[in-house]
Amino acid sequence: MTKLDIVEKIKPLDLVRVLLKKKTRFPYQLIKEELALKADFQPNYFNWGRNAFYYLFKNLKFKKIGLPAFTCPTLVEAARAADKEVVLIETDLETFNLKTDNLSSDLQALVVVHTFGNPVDIKRIREENKNLFIIEDCAHSLFAKINGQYLGKEGEAVLFSFYKQVVNLNGSLLLFKKKLLKKQKQESDWDYLKRLIVKLAGPHQLFLNLKRHQYLPAIEPQGLSADKPSSLVFKLFALGLEKLKKEVEKRKQLADFYYQQVKQRSFLFAQRPTVNSEPSFYHFAVRLDPGLAYLRDKLVFKLRQKNIFLGRLWFNAPVSEKKGKKLHPFCPNSLLLSQSVFNLPIRSSYNREDIQFLFKQIDKTLREVKQ
Ligand SMILES: Cc1ncc(COP(=O)(O)O)c(C=O)c1O
Repeated sequence: MTKLDIVEKIKPLDLVRVLLKKKTRFPYQLIKEELALKADFQPNYFNWGRNAFYYLFKNLKFKKIGLPAFTCPTLVEAARAADKEVVLIETDLETFNLKTDNLSSDLQALVVVHTFGNPVDIKRIREENKNLFIIEDCAHSLFAKINGQYLGKEGEAVLFSFYKQVVNLNGSLLLFKKKLLKKQKQESDWDYLKRLIVKLAGPHQLFLNLKRHQYLPAIEPQGLSADKPSSLVFKLFALGLEKLKKEVEKRKQLADFYYQQVKQRSFLFAQRPTVNSEPSFYHFAVRLDPGLAYLRDKLVFKLRQKNIFLGRLWFNAPVSEKKGKKLHPFCPNSLLLSQSVFNLPIRSSYNREDIQFLFKQIDKTLREVKQ
């Protein structure tokens, strides 16, 4: 049985290989070539995507920033830290992406997230909102396509992650017309030693998993910092990117079998791909029937105890903030998504038996937590 775990581990041999490497190509060169990016951007490297957003937001003149109400809470935290007024925008229950049909005419800047690698048609948003400054968040969507084109070509600023689709420690690249910082310190290869041990494949994972059975993970807080990632992170990214293109193509094929499995279950709904798109399948995201949403966390927790590690992004989406309720317009879809979505691992190494096993375990465990 293949490991059913949303968190991919670094292979020790890969770690040794990259540590022995003297030189590597920079992520911007690699991404630019792979995705055939034309615009001439300045690459801005940051240790975390949230820090990239913070320095970008600080640099923008707009007072208000629009963000999806169902997204990573760190985006909203970055906007607030940069003294921006956050406008939460409702998301779609099927694609899990922004609903942009009714954007307010006074909104000047918008963060568009291709949620879990499901592309947003940014050209369409532009047709309807001529002067909008769009920040494209491709943290989950390397090698996803819309209308036959890779994503990452439409934003005035574009964010990529080095550790979400590629197994790595941290790191992000923000493309923008200028350099956001003149001087940056580079993190050392060993700054995240604990994280490296946790992410490294090996027998110690058996012990770590015993611990993982006892809690539901949350997004790790990270301090505000202007540092750029270590050279170890650059090297792991170069190695991972080489494999990712093929991996994404295989996931696109495997996804059909996941959709079939979801269709056979009346209590599950799969994230629907945007029209004319090919998602990257960062995860295979599903949501529980609204009547069962109250069981989502129990289900994910119980499955962990069976060594099946799923995600529940984003249980703490900005829309679920308690103190924010008065500040934001009511976004019922986003609230429901934050309560009912869970993320299944999808990898080219899985076969049909693995996927069937995963869905059968979901059925069985749901029955158990209902009792
Ligand atoms: C879509 C998306 N963009 C950006 C970020 C922030 O990235 P980082 O974790 O590198 O700060 C996240 C956080 O997980 C995310 O999910």
